[in-house]
Amino acid sequence: MADAPLLELRGITKRFPGVVANDHVDFELAKGEVHALLGENGAGKSTLMNILYGLYHPDEGEIRLNGKPLRIDSPRAAIDNGIGMVHQHFMLIPVMSVAENIVLGVEPHSGPFLDLDTAQARVRELSERFGLAVRPEARIDSISVGMQQRVEILKALYRGAEILILDEPTAVLTPQEAEELFAIVRSLQAEGKSIIFISHKLNEVLKIADRITTLRFGKEVATVPREGATQEGLARMMVGREVVLRVEKPPAQPGEPLLVAEDLIVVDDRGLEACRGISLEVRAGEIVGIAGVDGNGQTELIDALTGLRHPASGRIVVGGRDVTDATAREVLDNGMGHIPEDRQLRGLVLDFSLAENLALHDFRKPPDSRFGWLFPRRLVQRARRLLAEFDVRGGGPETPAASLSGGNQQKVVVAREVSRDPRVLLAAQPTRGLDVGAIEFVHRRLVTERDEGRAIVLVSFELEEILSLSDRILVLYEGRIVGEYQPDVSEEELGFAMTGGLENEAA
Ligand SMILES: Nc1ncnc2c1ncn2[C@@H]1O[C@H](COP(=O)(O)OP(=O)(O)O)[C@@H](O)[C@H]1O
Ligand SMILES: [Mg+2]
Repeated sequence: MADAPLLELRGITKRFPGVVANDHVDFELAKGEVHALLGENGAGKSTLMNILYGLYHPDEGEIRLNGKPLRIDSPRAAIDNGIGMVHQHFMLIPVMSVAENIVLGVEPHSGPFLDLDTAQARVRELSERFGLAVRPEARIDSISVGMQQRVEILKALYRGAEILILDEPTAVLTPQEAEELFAIVRSLQAEGKSIIFISHKLNEVLKIADRITTLRFGKEVATVPREGATQEGLARMMVGREVVLRVEKPPAQPGEPLLVAEDLIVVDDRGLEACRGISLEVRAGEIVGIAGVDGNGQTELIDALTGLRHPASGRIVVGGRDVTDATAREVLDNGMGHIPEDRQLRGLVLDFSLAENLALHDFRKPPDSRFGWLFPRRLVQRARRLLAEFDVRGGGPETPAASLSGGNQQKVVVAREVSRDPRVLLAAQPTRGLDVGAIEFVHRRLVTERDEGRAIVLVSFELEEILSLSDRILVLYEGRIVGEYQPDVSEEELGFAMTGGLENEAA
């Protein structure tokens, strides 16, 4: 590159007790560039950016802006130098309006009063310029997570950010919202802004970045231009070994139907019909993917199938038995395994040990207990076996679940559900937020379980996951199954159905 870089990080090292989060990392950013920072969970991406944003002080190394050394000892200093950051967790005040949040701390005044009209007008102008479609007068608690993220972006732009750091921005977005964010990033770039885009998703960085820098265990592995970069190559840099992205699997050999749902109507918490007549059948030895944008009835369908919510009408049969009115416990005991959407809320008791978590469903029964006596040694023995078999790292049977990484927590959930030998395994967003290594593990395991003759239901918002794992794909849109596809369907066709294209065509 002929021009001197806009920003340079040289030899940045940051140690935390017991871990070197950044180990002599070099990174540079050109003006008008989108530069992705790629790495598994824990690789040191957020730490590096928190240093640039003045939240942490590096133990070694220097930052240069326009060739001049720069000391950034607070976010205030970062902002004064045109560096803005959108964190993984937003920092907005729910009861205030979009405009109030954006101008907070830098309010325009008319005399001693906050000049809200001026603030709103400026926010609207910025929003239009970058295609953000944010309404300045809306209250934060009334807008979607995707919109809140845009408010954070506007907040940085309002403060004059020329360099914008986005920390895993798509982690909280639906596929559609992510596409919209990419468009916003491109319009920022077109206006000359420089963007650091943090992600652990390979397809995403290949879509949006001009250059990609990969971190692994706190070290910079390489910086490569997007041209010529491949998913396989990036994955290898990220995890340091070959990973299988396309799941290798023999054709399914479907057997008898193990899960049958007929004409399910399920109402949501507000009393509205979230599932509006869903019928489906999943056979032994097949993976049926349920594709759809978040909020089209997935949660209510999963709740109904697992007995957590009773359908208003319709029928559910698991392994030949009608469980429509059964409790969640009875559904579980009748052969339903459930890898829940939110592993921290429903999958695990974070304060409990791994052994206790692994026994969560069964500790009342032999062999874990008999006549009301619990046999702790049995729990520990089983835990030791399962932790080894499922390659859970970062703790033993006595370790509290809370201290494991997300990927290892998910392996514990999978281990528990699979080890109960269920006939039907319902996996909801089973790899959300996991890194490549853990995703690969969970995917392989689901295929193994399929080949053991279980009926697998995969609910996922990730098109790639649906496409690479499913033997059949059902598309859920506004509470109905609107299409069934073979796994060789194109992303475009599936996306069209997921966003209601078929319905509109029919209308
Ligand atoms: N404030 C902190 N105190 C102690 N350890 C930390 C702190 N922040 C991050 N770490 C550790 O530093 C490493 C890198 O973390 P992080 O930068 O958050 O990774 P990433 O954003 O790539 O997932 C991890 O091992 C993490 O546990
Ligand atoms: Mg991070």
